[in-house]
Amino acid sequence: MTSVEIRVPGDKSLSHRALIFAALATGTSRVRDILLSADVQSTAGVLRALGVAVPVLGADIAVESRGARALAAPQADLDCGNSGTTTRLMAGVAAGCAFRSRFVGDASLSRRPMRRVARPLTAMGARVTLESGDGLPMVVEGGALHPITWTSETASAQIKSAILLAGVVGGVEVEVTEPSRSRDHTERMLRALGAQVEVDGTRVRLGTVRSLEPLDVRVPSDPSSAAFLIALAVLSSSARIVVPDVCLNPTRTGFFDVLRRMGASVEIERGAEQGGEETGRIEGAPSQLWGVAVDEAEVPSMIDELPLLACVAARAQGATEIRDAAELRVKESDRIATVVANLRAIGVAAEELADGLTVLGSPAPLRGTVRTHGDHRIAMAFGVLGALPGNDIAIDDPECVAVSYPAFWNDLARASRSLAAR
Ligand code: S3P
Repeated sequence: MTSVEIRVPGDKSLSHRALIFAALATGTSRVRDILLSADVQSTAGVLRALGVAVPVLGADIAVESRGARALAAPQADLDCGNSGTTTRLMAGVAAGCAFRSRFVGDASLSRRPMRRVARPLTAMGARVTLESGDGLPMVVEGGALHPITWTSETASAQIKSAILLAGVVGGVEVEVTEPSRSRDHTERMLRALGAQVEVDGTRVRLGTVRSLEPLDVRVPSDPSSAAFLIALAVLSSSARIVVPDVCLNPTRTGFFDVLRRMGASVEIERGAEQGGEETGRIEGAPSQLWGVAVDEAEVPSMIDELPLLACVAARAQGATEIRDAAELRVKESDRIATVVANLRAIGVAAEELADGLTVLGSPAPLRGTVRTHGDHRIAMAFGVLGALPGNDIAIDDPECVAVSYPAFWNDLARASRSLAAR
């Protein structure tokens, strides 16, 4: 069997956070292998608008900052593009700054819920105005903040991180409890920079931060990007695909666990720890798959991979059910509606549920056109099905992958060539 090794780009969540923490630290931070994608450029742009000297992004960048106190009032709206992470995390930063910031974004981002961050930031003492219902534009007038103990209704790393960042910039203690554990990169990075962070189950407590040390990190590859190539290998009849140096933070790897439960051959070899994050190599190989029920507790650790899981399920024997995933409705698109409509458009039996979906797998050839609604993960998930021999799937907006994985179509083509050359 042919085997191909493909390195995928840097982790998106870690890339946003590396830039934000470099801006909040005092001194010169160094960031290597940052993800060069539209979402990360949005965070860089917002930080520059706040007076931080973020250089042109590249493989090895240095960011010099005089710390959170040196952030300056923006002269224009803060354009977050398509990026929910930029908006929500930077809203937390802005809450601790004594000036007015107005966040705007593209049509998809403008529809996404922001009250979930506006509420805790308001409770901490910031003035947050949502100009249009629950979405953007959002104005944050920050300043002196008070400590907060917050219970979030949603397991969301963006909400948790907004509160933690407001605590950092405001120099106040914060405590956040969520219904189940969301990705914990912010906590890990804070700890690596010398902050006092206590974690007890789903509760995180941050002590008062006086200043943050500069960071020196190398961003490992993104497990959410690796997932597409591993899924391709598993669904193929002939290729082993190896993705090296992937971030294996356990709050991010649920997809690979569920794939295994479906019968997939997925091997993980753990390697070095980098900047408080576990990393390693993932290898996927052709497998016979069975339908699966995704457990409520598994959803947060694979939230961005659920569209891909639904596409993989289209090729499994039997039915797959995803529940307790209503959050999918407020991502870059309504991912429950978008996934189900597109699965049906290419000939797969799928049903929408209020909080998830069901898919009935079949080996029949899949044909049709996918409407991405500008959602990068929809384009890539269906791109994997389209790369399998016998299927004929057109994607209406392939360029939208630029948000998280600009080289996706090249990497997919390389992987597919290895399928053909069995
Ligand atoms: C992210 C958190 C997740 C995820 C998003 C990135 C982050 O959102 O869907 O792609 O970097 O914090 P929620 O935590 O709001 O679910």
